Amino acid sequence: MTVLKKSKQLTENVSKITAHDLAKKQREISVSEFFTKNRHLLGFDNPRKALLTTIKEGIDNSLDACEEAKILPDIKVRINHVNDTEDRFRVTIEDNGPGILKSHIPKIFGKLLYGSKFHRLKMSRGQQGIGISAAGMYGQLTTGKPILITSKISPKKPAHHYSLVVDTQKNEPRILKDEIVHYDTKHGTKVAIELEAKYQKGRQSVDGYIEQTSIANPHTDITYINPEGKETRYPRASKELPIEPKEIKPHPYGMELGMLIKMLHDTKAKNLRSFLIKDFSRVSARVAKEICEKANLYEKARPSRIAVQEADALFKAIKLTKIMNPPADCISPIGEESIIQGLKKQINADFFTSNTRPPSVYRGNPFQIEVGLAYGGDLPEERLIRLLRFANRVPLLYQQSACVITESAINTSWRNYGLQQSTGALPAGPVILMVHLASVWVPFTSESKEAIAHYPEIEKEVKLALQECGRHLSTFIKRRKKTAEEIKKKTYIKKYIPHIGIALKEILNLNNKQELKIVNNLTNILERSRS
Ligand SMILES: Nc1ncnc2c1ncn2[C@@H]1O[C@H](COP(=O)(O)OP(=O)(O)O)[C@@H](O)[C@H]1O
Ligand SMILES: [Mg+2]
Repeated sequence: MTVLKKSKQLTENVSKITAHDLAKKQREISVSEFFTKNRHLLGFDNPRKALLTTIKEGIDNSLDACEEAKILPDIKVRINHVNDTEDRFRVTIEDNGPGILKSHIPKIFGKLLYGSKFHRLKMSRGQQGIGISAAGMYGQLTTGKPILITSKISPKKPAHHYSLVVDTQKNEPRILKDEIVHYDTKHGTKVAIELEAKYQKGRQSVDGYIEQTSIANPHTDITYINPEGKETRYPRASKELPIEPKEIKPHPYGMELGMLIKMLHDTKAKNLRSFLIKDFSRVSARVAKEICEKANLYEKARPSRIAVQEADALFKAIKLTKIMNPPADCISPIGEESIIQGLKKQINADFFTSNTRPPSVYRGNPFQIEVGLAYGGDLPEERLIRLLRFANRVPLLYQQSACVITESAINTSWRNYGLQQSTGALPAGPVILMVHLASVWVPFTSESKEAIAHYPEIEKEVKLALQECGRHLSTFIKRRKKTAEEIKKKTYIKKYIPHIGIALKEILNLNNKQELKIVNNLTNILERSRS
């Protein structure tokens, strides 16, 4: 009886929470608050990675800005210990880029999801508008210190200095300092962030990242000062800027329904026909007509009046219509020659080769794969090969096993090309392999941009490029083996030539001169012979 009564009471208590009570707790979550709690999604999951991500976001932005402004990048990166504390650093990244307009500085550095690259399809390192502001926010969170920015857009204009923090509740910048300063440069930007971090040397370190950046960007000059005060210079190996990639319109095959509905809503086109032709790449008048017919929609219909069901029909019709692949001139690969220049700059090896594949398409997005390979020399013989992954020229240091590039490298039969390989593993041997994916939109598996998603089209292209380089490698290894055998054979025979001379002298009763002649002749024949 009492038990029953109690449980009834309990139900009553529980049901007392009303929709009104819940409503009191319901409120908007700002994007900054979200990423403060989920900082691992942006690559700030531990102090070591936080240092790398901060530097990566700064360098990415500097390189993107310089290339867009057609300036050969000169970049300075410095990491300082703050007050000799073990885990607190100040990271400064300085470039000779175009600078940033004063009015835009606060939003760029003090607001997440603000940038110039998200709303376009153009090959660049950054894409989401979340990089540098997130690094600043992490610094602010761990040290309470603001992000410092100094920028100058021309020798005739003053330099502006800002000190600001992100107001995480509003996702808006809060300016602490805004002043004109002397900045001894023609144009450029300097960003300083203080953060809690850990400096470590090794493969997944800032040192490794900077070295790999210099390999994939031979047109860049980098000066790097580590926390110990050691300065390393990575001079440029080429004075040629990469060819500027072109911006393209989205390809209909890359559409998702939600995106299509948004585009229909936002378009300036007056009717469906011109919407399809003007807002997409590769849609001709004939293709537009075919799509509308298949969707059972009137070509003259106003895009904003298209209902969700009709948009769905349009979406399905697109998939059923044959549309040409997007143009490929929107991608700027590193190029076979520059890849070799970049590798030679940092690696002492006996053999270098590279392969740039023709452009291909995944989900309507053009992409291109390139592979570079260095073999022998100083590279260690017994270990697994070292795989360097790059996306739009940015080194990817974490989540190697989750990346389509690694999977393709594992699934390639390296034994055919003279390397040892166990099943399900990378091959072993004195090899550094670099694989670059260039695309207008890199399909990362997460916002922290560490691994590339498994699209079959991408996997296939990586494999084809690896196989091509593998064939070059195998020719080299075979030739080298043959030469080594030849030398061994010759050395062996050479050792016995004087003895043959002595023996012949005795058998044929020759004098010293005749003996010497035979020895010389045999030596000459051996030197000239090729097996
Ligand atoms: N060093 C810089 N020089 C010039 N412009 C910059 C620089 N750093 C950032 N920007 C501008 O700020 C924007 C936001 O940068 P960021 O938050 O890293 O996002 P994303 O790089 O993904 O666009 C960039 O799109 C660019 O327009
Ligand atoms: Mg960026």
